[in-house]
Amino acid sequence: MRIAIPRETEAGEPRVAGTPDTVKRLMALGADLVVEPGAGLASGIIDADYEAVGASVSADAVKGADVVLKVRRPSAAELKSYKAGAVVLATMDPYGNEAALAVMAQAGIAAFAMELMPRITRAQVMDVLSSQANLAGYRAVIDGAGEFGRALPMMMTAAGTVPAAKIFVMGAGVAGLQAIATARRLGAVVTATDVRPAAKEQVESLGAKFVAVMDDEFKQAETAAGYAKPMSAEYQAKQAALVAEHIAKQDIVITTALIPGRAAPRLVTAAMAASMKAGSVLVDLAVERGGNVEGARIGETVVTANGAKIVGHANVPGRLAATSSALYARNLFAFLEVMIDKASKSLVVPWEDELVKATLLTRDGAVVHPNFQSVAPSPPAAPATEAAAVDTAPAKPKAAPKKSTKA
Ligand code: NAI
Repeated sequence: MRIAIPRETEAGEPRVAGTPDTVKRLMALGADLVVEPGAGLASGIIDADYEAVGASVSADAVKGADVVLKVRRPSAAELKSYKAGAVVLATMDPYGNEAALAVMAQAGIAAFAMELMPRITRAQVMDVLSSQANLAGYRAVIDGAGEFGRALPMMMTAAGTVPAAKIFVMGAGVAGLQAIATARRLGAVVTATDVRPAAKEQVESLGAKFVAVMDDEFKQAETAAGYAKPMSAEYQAKQAALVAEHIAKQDIVITTALIPGRAAPRLVTAAMAASMKAGSVLVDLAVERGGNVEGARIGETVVTANGAKIVGHANVPGRLAATSSALYARNLFAFLEVMIDKASKSLVVPWEDELVKATLLTRDGAVVHPNFQSVAPSPPAAPATEAAAVDTAPAKPKAAPKKSTKA
């Protein structure tokens, strides 16, 4: 069982899908690990660190590998070196990228989209959306603090008292809750909003104040899967009025609001940003999904006419690559462990396992995931086996697609 950890090829991706820690764990399960030279460098891991735990380092790492561990979906060029039938785990960003799924199918790989992992207790340890969003929430506060020309905590000094900064977090999911906790630890006065009623208690348990229009629509704004529903125009207008008044008084605003399968909701208009004081900062974590803040631009810090800054970093988890790689690699290890037979120390994919079925995009030359069946290429490059045909007939499609950020 040969497992490869290649270097990521996408520009601006410093993370790596395996660390010396996970290499050690996989070797204990009987695998041979091969790492591409420099794969971990941008995450602070040198080749010798991998070699020290028993991995070999080779430019041909993926050649002949039974499993390839990746951060991003492999490109057509990368797939040329993958062997047919290889199991590939990555964040595949499948929605809207059907052509790329077809290319993976044609390469004959078994491609697993980690972001489609069901959010059930058993799979929490494999939840890449949570591990990466959590770190993005933390980093958003650090980035906001870095751009802010003042201190966050209240300080009483001989030269005078510095007031605590006011931080408003919009969207209190995984990223937002970590942003609240981080902002509180740094001594800011924190408020937060969300459209899901369950968020109120979570926000308050972290010591922040909850700010929202709590009408009947708000009370039903959560799907069975725990995600936000798109809100009515009427609700959005009420929310905007409340937010407009609140934002004008804030020093730092961090936006994290997403709705699975849709563009990010616009929460901060240009007029709201214009109402903020000079030197205040908006950090838009949803910028890659269309942005919560009007005027936010991917990879840029935009200074508005009134002197507020709109920060739109791409790949925020990549801004703390060592930590995000460590957690991401552990997520992958936990899932791969399900596919390794401990007795024979070999790869035995349990095709009927609910986690495998929920995440498997392509197999035996075909796109097999129910959410992407209608756009599957035809005919598949390689004939589907009987087993694949049985495996790919799920009873019902998933109710709600998970978000498809590139986190
Ligand atoms: P997400 O990344 O899809 O969205 C981020 C936040 O934005 C959500 O809290 C959402 O309600 C909020 N939002 C959407 N539209 C908004 C609007 N117009 N105004 C203000 N806020 C808005 O969500 P995430 O972070 O992935 O978490 C979603 C839920 O799933 C949460 O309840 C979380 O606690 C839960 N969860 C459960 C897990 C499990 O294993 N059981 C694991 C991870 C999360």
